[in-house]
Amino acid sequence: MTATLSASTTEALLGVYRKPPMELVRGAGVELFDTDGKSYLDFVAGIAVNALGYGDPGLEQAMRDAMEGSLIHTSNLYRTQAGERLAERLVDISFAERVFFCNSGAEANEGAFKLARRWGRAKGGTAKHEIIALRGAFHGRLFGTLAATDRPSYRAPFRPLAGGISIVERDLDELDAALNPETVTAVIAEPIQGEGGVRVLDPKFLQALRAMTLERGILLILDEIQCGYARTGKFWAHEHSDITPDILTTAKPMAGGLPMGAILTTREVADTMQPGDHGTTFGGGPFISAVALHVLGRLSDASMLKHVRERGMQVKKGLDAIAKSSSKVRAVRGTGLMWGIDVADPAKDIVGRAMELGLLICSAGEHTLRLLPPLVVSKADVDRGLGLLKHAIG
Ligand SMILES: Cc1ncc(COP(=O)(O)O)c(C=O)c1O
Repeated sequence: MTATLSASTTEALLGVYRKPPMELVRGAGVELFDTDGKSYLDFVAGIAVNALGYGDPGLEQAMRDAMEGSLIHTSNLYRTQAGERLAERLVDISFAERVFFCNSGAEANEGAFKLARRWGRAKGGTAKHEIIALRGAFHGRLFGTLAATDRPSYRAPFRPLAGGISIVERDLDELDAALNPETVTAVIAEPIQGEGGVRVLDPKFLQALRAMTLERGILLILDEIQCGYARTGKFWAHEHSDITPDILTTAKPMAGGLPMGAILTTREVADTMQPGDHGTTFGGGPFISAVALHVLGRLSDASMLKHVRERGMQVKKGLDAIAKSSSKVRAVRGTGLMWGIDVADPAKDIVGRAMELGLLICSAGEHTLRLLPPLVVSKADVDRGLGLLKHAIG
């Protein structure tokens, strides 16, 4: 197949992404193909979205089935089955008692901040409204979430950012000083910071943060948009720490590549929200929810979780071996199928070399590579991917 995009078609897009020139036209399993027929082993998976890879027959059938009755969208003015059933399933599989659907990760976090503000006002009046995020956090690029995202280059051009949101070190003493119950309504944390360099928060740190927030009557929001939904080999990443949050946000893999997010919360927090306090046109529509029900069933299956843990151990072993043999690898971090590799060379150079070799990986900071393969990746795919990665690191 010959190239179909010209420079001028690219110019029609807002220039907020630097994209390589190749054009993707097809996917199969964990591989993508460009217009020249070149194949790429995909260890990015649409940034942790395409958990079932490409061309999954079950997912494609679920999409065809979801068309039955021709209800793609009805709005949230009316009841439809799939969304209510999906909410019920998410309640069954989590700490939560109430669910709100939306369309992306940032939107889920923005909604979570509104829930936290509403609850804070009910508990402590207008003073109790501050939201604390952690050093290295990424929670999205909308106004509230940008204020909770610790990337100076993302923030600086858009100041002033939303108020009442601040960033504190990932340090219990600093948090102890910052968590004033009179003014703080919530702390938000990613159990594994994805964009911030694949930093796994120590279970002991998360447990201490949970204890501190509970003692002080402050909500804990866990952002599992990248690390949740089976990616770590448990369905929720916080299961590794034996804690539960008051609010959890999820998105990326929920609907097999269609845009969906969700806020999960307790009845206590949910009960402070009234009709009219929040809303969305598209969230939880019948088509996307039917597809998401299929994805939830697949990703919560015990055999899938076991598969992720096994492949995760294989990735860890392989990366440890690469780190041992290469002076260019500084550190390896991660769990399940979410890994970060600190490298001496600029990450973008290695990402480019890997692409030439037929492997897609992404970065998480200037000197950190990130691997997020589809969760259905096979043993042979992992071996092949790590072989190509070793070459690309050099
Ligand atoms: C942890 C985390 N939170 C929030 C977001 C924002 O999600 P979205 O890009 O769907 O708005 C991301 C996206 O990478 C993320 O990784």
